[in-house]
Amino acid sequence: MSASVLAVEGLSVNFGGLRAVNDVSFAIGENEIVGLVGPNGAGKTTIFNAIFGMIAPTSGRIVFRGRDITGLAPERIAEAGITRTFQNVRLFGELSVRENVMMGAYNAGRCGVIASIARVGRHRRLEKLAAERADRWIARLGLSAYANMLATGLPLGLQRIAEVARALAGEPRLMLLDEPAAGLNEVEKRQLADLLLAAAAESGCALLLVDHDMHLVMGLVHRVVVVDFGRKIADDSPAAVTRDPAVIEAYLGA
Ligand SMILES: Nc1ncnc2c1ncn2[C@@H]1O[C@H](COP(=O)(O)OP(=O)(O)OP(=O)(O)O)[C@@H](O)[C@H]1O
Ligand SMILES: [Mg+2]
Repeated sequence: MSASVLAVEGLSVNFGGLRAVNDVSFAIGENEIVGLVGPNGAGKTTIFNAIFGMIAPTSGRIVFRGRDITGLAPERIAEAGITRTFQNVRLFGELSVRENVMMGAYNAGRCGVIASIARVGRHRRLEKLAAERADRWIARLGLSAYANMLATGLPLGLQRIAEVARALAGEPRLMLLDEPAAGLNEVEKRQLADLLLAAAAESGCALLLVDHDMHLVMGLVHRVVVVDFGRKIADDSPAAVTRDPAVIEAYLGA
Protein backbone atom coordinates (compact mmCIF):
# COMPACT_ATOMS: atom_id res chain seq x y z
CA MET A 1 0.00 0.00 0.00
CA SER A 2 2.01 2.99 -1.17
CA ALA A 3 0.61 6.46 -1.81
CA SER A 4 -3.02 6.95 -0.96
CA VAL A 5 -5.58 7.03 -3.73
CA LEU A 6 -8.15 8.73 -1.56
CA ALA A 7 -7.83 10.77 1.60
CA VAL A 8 -10.92 11.87 3.48
CA GLU A 9 -9.83 14.65 5.83
CA GLY A 10 -11.95 15.88 8.72
CA LEU A 11 -15.19 15.32 6.83
CA SER A 12 -18.38 16.61 8.45
CA VAL A 13 -21.85 16.76 6.92
CA ASN A 14 -24.80 18.43 8.61
CA PHE A 15 -28.44 18.00 7.59
CA GLY A 16 -30.13 20.87 9.37
CA GLY A 17 -29.46 20.21 13.01
CA LEU A 18 -28.30 16.63 12.43
CA ARG A 19 -24.57 16.01 12.19
CA ALA A 20 -24.71 12.91 9.97
CA VAL A 21 -20.91 12.75 9.55
CA ASN A 22 -18.68 14.12 12.28
CA ASP A 23 -15.00 14.84 11.62
CA VAL A 24 -14.23 11.59 9.81
CA SER A 25 -10.76 11.01 8.36
CA PHE A 26 -9.38 7.93 6.62
CA ALA A 27 -7.26 7.03 3.62
CA ILE A 28 -7.28 4.30 0.97
CA GLY A 29 -4.04 3.06 -0.59
CA GLU A 30 -3.40 2.03 -4.20
CA ASN A 31 -5.17 -1.29 -4.87
CA GLU A 32 -6.43 -1.42 -1.32
CA ILE A 33 -9.83 -2.89 -0.46
CA VAL A 34 -11.38 -1.10 2.48
CA GLY A 35 -14.67 -1.79 4.23
CA LEU A 36 -16.83 1.00 5.62
CA VAL A 37 -19.22 -0.44 8.18
CA GLY A 38 -21.48 0.73 10.96
CA PRO A 39 -25.06 0.43 12.20
CA ASN A 40 -28.04 1.82 10.23
CA GLY A 41 -27.93 5.59 10.01
CA ALA A 42 -24.24 5.75 11.00
CA GLY A 43 -23.41 7.96 7.99
CA LYS A 44 -21.93 5.51 5.48
CA THR A 45 -24.01 6.52 2.46
CA THR A 46 -23.55 10.17 3.37
CA ILE A 47 -19.77 9.68 3.29
CA PHE A 48 -20.12 8.10 -0.17
CA ASN A 49 -22.30 10.98 -1.33
CA ALA A 50 -19.75 13.50 -0.09
CA ILE A 51 -16.84 11.69 -1.79
CA PHE A 52 -18.81 11.48 -5.02
CA GLY A 53 -19.87 15.13 -5.01
CA MET A 54 -23.57 14.45 -4.52
CA ILE A 55 -23.68 16.50 -1.33
CA ALA A 56 -21.43 19.35 -0.21
CA PRO A 57 -19.46 18.70 2.97
CA THR A 58 -20.10 21.10 5.83
CA SER A 59 -16.35 20.96 6.45
CA GLY A 60 -13.35 18.85 5.55
CA ARG A 61 -11.63 17.85 2.32
CA ILE A 62 -11.67 14.98 -0.14
CA VAL A 63 -8.31 14.43 -1.84
CA PHE A 64 -8.12 11.99 -4.75
CA ARG A 65 -4.67 11.06 -6.11
CA GLY A 66 -3.21 14.20 -4.61
CA ARG A 67 -5.89 16.51 -5.99
CA ASP A 68 -8.51 18.29 -3.89
CA ILE A 69 -11.85 17.23 -5.40
CA THR A 70 -14.06 18.66 -2.65
CA GLY A 71 -17.16 20.25 -4.13
CA LEU A 72 -16.65 19.00 -7.72
CA ALA A 73 -19.76 17.79 -9.56
CA PRO A 74 -20.25 14.00 -9.79
CA GLU A 75 -19.46 13.99 -13.54
CA ARG A 76 -16.09 15.65 -12.87
CA ILE A 77 -15.40 13.16 -10.12
CA ALA A 78 -16.24 10.26 -12.43
CA GLU A 79 -13.86 11.73 -15.01
CA ALA A 80 -11.17 11.98 -12.37
CA GLY A 81 -11.46 8.21 -11.81
CA ILE A 82 -14.01 7.40 -9.12
CA THR A 83 -17.15 5.39 -9.87
CA ARG A 84 -19.86 4.13 -7.58
CA THR A 85 -22.77 1.76 -7.28
CA PHE A 86 -25.90 2.58 -5.35
CA GLN A 87 -27.60 1.10 -2.29
CA ASN A 88 -30.69 0.68 -4.48
CA VAL A 89 -29.66 -0.52 -7.92
CA ARG A 90 -29.86 2.33 -10.42
CA LEU A 91 -29.78 0.93 -13.93
CA PHE A 92 -31.49 2.56 -16.89
CA GLY A 93 -34.61 0.44 -17.29
CA GLU A 94 -35.20 1.22 -20.95
CA LEU A 95 -31.65 0.25 -21.90
CA SER A 96 -30.09 -3.17 -22.38
CA VAL A 97 -27.34 -4.51 -20.13
CA ARG A 98 -24.76 -3.68 -22.81
CA GLU A 99 -26.07 -0.13 -23.23
CA ASN A 100 -26.01 0.39 -19.47
CA VAL A 101 -22.42 -0.78 -19.25
CA MET A 102 -21.50 1.41 -22.25
CA MET A 103 -22.80 4.41 -20.31
CA GLY A 104 -20.13 3.64 -17.75
CA ALA A 105 -17.46 3.61 -20.45
CA TYR A 106 -18.60 7.01 -21.75
CA ASN A 107 -18.22 8.45 -18.27
CA ALA A 108 -14.54 7.58 -18.21
CA GLY A 109 -11.83 10.18 -17.80
CA ARG A 110 -11.40 13.07 -20.19
CA CYS A 111 -7.79 12.17 -20.68
CA GLY A 112 -8.72 8.63 -21.74
CA VAL A 113 -8.55 7.36 -25.29
CA ILE A 114 -12.31 7.42 -25.64
CA ALA A 115 -12.60 11.05 -24.63
CA SER A 116 -9.79 12.21 -26.91
CA ILE A 117 -11.57 10.64 -29.83
CA ALA A 118 -14.85 12.18 -28.72
CA ARG A 119 -13.25 15.62 -28.83
CA VAL A 120 -12.44 15.31 -32.49
CA GLY A 121 -15.98 14.16 -33.05
CA ARG A 122 -15.50 10.65 -34.36
CA HIS A 123 -18.59 9.34 -32.66
CA ARG A 124 -18.64 6.02 -34.44
CA ARG A 125 -15.23 5.12 -33.12
CA LEU A 126 -16.23 6.38 -29.71
CA GLU A 127 -19.24 4.12 -29.70
CA LYS A 128 -17.19 1.18 -30.92
CA LEU A 129 -14.61 1.65 -28.19
CA ALA A 130 -17.28 1.99 -25.53
CA ALA A 131 -18.96 -1.18 -26.83
CA GLU A 132 -15.66 -3.07 -26.83
CA ARG A 133 -14.87 -2.00 -23.32
CA ALA A 134 -18.41 -2.81 -22.18
CA ASP A 135 -18.29 -6.25 -23.79
CA ARG A 136 -14.97 -7.00 -22.12
CA TRP A 137 -16.41 -6.36 -18.65
CA ILE A 138 -19.71 -8.05 -19.52
CA ALA A 139 -17.79 -11.17 -20.50
CA ARG A 140 -15.47 -10.93 -17.51
CA LEU A 141 -18.39 -10.72 -15.09
CA GLY A 142 -20.32 -13.54 -16.76
CA LEU A 143 -23.11 -11.41 -18.20
CA SER A 144 -22.68 -12.16 -21.92
CA ALA A 145 -25.88 -14.21 -22.15
CA TYR A 146 -27.85 -11.23 -20.82
CA ALA A 147 -26.12 -8.43 -22.73
CA ASN A 148 -29.06 -7.65 -25.01
CA MET A 149 -31.79 -7.96 -22.39
CA LEU A 150 -33.38 -5.01 -20.65
CA ALA A 151 -31.30 -4.42 -17.55
CA THR A 152 -34.18 -4.04 -15.15
CA GLY A 153 -35.75 -7.28 -16.36
CA LEU A 154 -32.89 -9.27 -14.82
CA PRO A 155 -32.98 -10.88 -11.38
CA LEU A 156 -31.54 -8.63 -8.67
CA GLY A 157 -28.27 -10.57 -8.39
CA LEU A 158 -27.52 -10.00 -12.06
CA GLN A 159 -28.60 -6.35 -11.88
CA ARG A 160 -26.09 -5.81 -9.10
CA ILE A 161 -23.35 -7.45 -11.17
CA ALA A 162 -24.38 -5.31 -14.17
CA GLU A 163 -24.00 -2.24 -11.99
CA VAL A 164 -20.49 -3.34 -11.06
CA ALA A 165 -19.73 -3.91 -14.76
CA ARG A 166 -20.94 -0.39 -15.55
CA ALA A 167 -18.74 1.05 -12.81
CA LEU A 168 -15.70 -0.91 -14.01
CA ALA A 169 -16.24 0.15 -17.64
CA GLY A 170 -15.37 3.67 -16.51
CA GLU A 171 -11.88 2.32 -15.72
CA PRO A 172 -11.88 3.85 -12.26
CA ARG A 173 -8.96 3.99 -9.84
CA LEU A 174 -11.45 3.83 -6.99
CA MET A 175 -14.85 2.18 -6.89
CA LEU A 176 -17.38 2.95 -4.15
CA LEU A 177 -19.77 0.05 -3.55
CA ASP A 178 -22.81 0.78 -1.40
CA GLU A 179 -24.27 -2.52 -0.19
CA PRO A 180 -23.57 -4.42 -3.43
CA ALA A 181 -24.71 -7.70 -1.87
CA ALA A 182 -27.99 -6.50 -0.34
CA GLY A 183 -30.84 -8.81 -1.29
CA LEU A 184 -28.57 -11.53 -2.68
CA ASN A 185 -28.51 -15.13 -1.51
CA GLU A 186 -25.34 -16.76 -0.17
CA VAL A 187 -24.33 -18.25 -3.51
CA GLU A 188 -24.80 -14.92 -5.30
CA LYS A 189 -22.88 -13.12 -2.56
CA ARG A 190 -19.96 -15.51 -2.90
CA GLN A 191 -19.97 -15.03 -6.69
CA LEU A 192 -20.08 -11.27 -6.35
CA ALA A 193 -17.25 -11.27 -3.80
CA ASP A 194 -15.07 -13.41 -6.09
CA LEU A 195 -15.84 -11.15 -9.05
CA LEU A 196 -15.02 -8.03 -7.07
CA LEU A 197 -11.69 -9.43 -5.90
CA ALA A 198 -10.72 -10.54 -9.40
CA ALA A 199 -11.90 -7.33 -11.06
CA ALA A 200 -10.12 -5.11 -8.54
CA ALA A 201 -6.88 -7.04 -9.02
CA GLU A 202 -7.12 -7.01 -12.81
CA SER A 203 -8.05 -3.38 -13.18
CA GLY A 204 -5.75 -2.04 -10.44
CA CYS A 205 -8.73 -0.37 -8.83
CA ALA A 206 -9.08 0.33 -5.11
CA LEU A 207 -12.44 -0.49 -3.50
CA LEU A 208 -14.40 1.13 -0.70
CA LEU A 209 -17.16 -1.25 0.26
CA VAL A 210 -20.20 -0.72 2.48
CA ASP A 211 -22.21 -3.78 3.46
CA HIS A 212 -24.13 -5.04 6.46
CA ASP A 213 -23.00 -8.62 5.84
CA MET A 214 -19.98 -8.73 8.14
CA HIS A 215 -18.96 -12.17 6.94
CA LEU A 216 -18.77 -10.86 3.36
CA VAL A 217 -16.97 -7.64 4.30
CA MET A 218 -14.43 -9.24 6.61
CA GLY A 219 -13.59 -11.89 4.03
CA LEU A 220 -13.04 -9.33 1.28
CA VAL A 221 -11.23 -6.35 2.72
CA HIS A 222 -7.70 -5.51 3.85
CA ARG A 223 -8.89 -2.92 6.36
CA VAL A 224 -12.13 -1.78 7.96
CA VAL A 225 -13.26 1.72 8.90
CA VAL A 226 -16.10 1.63 11.44
CA VAL A 227 -18.46 4.56 11.93
CA ASP A 228 -21.17 5.03 14.55
CA PHE A 229 -23.42 8.09 14.88
CA GLY A 230 -21.33 9.87 12.27
CA ARG A 231 -18.00 9.37 14.02
CA LYS A 232 -15.15 7.03 13.13
CA ILE A 233 -14.69 4.60 16.01
CA ALA A 234 -12.18 2.15 14.49
CA ASP A 235 -9.82 1.81 11.52
CA ASP A 236 -7.90 -1.45 11.50
CA SER A 237 -7.56 -4.98 10.13
CA PRO A 238 -10.73 -7.11 10.08
CA ALA A 239 -9.35 -9.27 12.90
CA ALA A 240 -8.53 -6.29 15.13
CA VAL A 241 -11.84 -4.54 14.44
CA THR A 242 -13.95 -7.55 15.40
CA ARG A 243 -12.14 -7.64 18.77
CA ASP A 244 -12.46 -3.87 19.36
CA PRO A 245 -14.64 -3.12 22.42
CA ALA A 246 -15.96 0.14 20.89
CA VAL A 247 -17.08 -1.75 17.78
CA ILE A 248 -18.70 -4.54 19.77
CA GLU A 249 -20.47 -1.90 21.85
CA ALA A 250 -21.70 -0.08 18.72
CA TYR A 251 -23.19 -3.27 17.30
CA LEU A 252 -24.49 -4.88 20.45
CA GLY A 253 -24.77 -1.99 22.90
CA ALA A 254 -27.78 0.15 23.80
N1 LIG B 1 -30.63 13.94 2.57
C1 LIG B 1 -30.77 13.84 3.91
N2 LIG B 1 -31.43 14.75 4.62
C2 LIG B 1 -31.56 14.66 5.96
N3 LIG B 1 -31.04 13.64 6.68
C3 LIG B 1 -30.37 12.69 6.01
C4 LIG B 1 -30.21 12.72 4.60
N4 LIG B 1 -29.48 11.63 4.23
C5 LIG B 1 -29.22 10.95 5.36
N5 LIG B 1 -29.75 11.58 6.43
C6 LIG B 1 -29.62 11.16 7.82
O1 LIG B 1 -28.23 11.11 8.10
C7 LIG B 1 -27.91 9.97 8.91
C8 LIG B 1 -26.93 9.09 8.18
O2 LIG B 1 -27.60 8.47 7.09
P1 LIG B 1 -26.88 7.51 6.06
O3 LIG B 1 -27.87 7.20 4.99
O4 LIG B 1 -25.59 8.12 5.65
O5 LIG B 1 -26.60 6.23 6.97
P2 LIG B 1 -26.05 4.80 6.53
O6 LIG B 1 -24.91 4.52 7.44
O7 LIG B 1 -25.84 4.72 5.09
O8 LIG B 1 -27.28 3.86 6.98
P3 LIG B 1 -27.83 2.46 6.31
O9 LIG B 1 -26.92 1.40 6.83
O10 LIG B 1 -29.19 2.35 6.89
O11 LIG B 1 -27.82 2.62 4.84
C9 LIG B 1 -29.24 9.32 9.23
O12 LIG B 1 -29.69 9.81 10.48
C10 LIG B 1 -30.14 9.76 8.09
O13 LIG B 1 -31.47 9.77 8.51
MG1 LIG C 1 -26.62 3.62 3.56
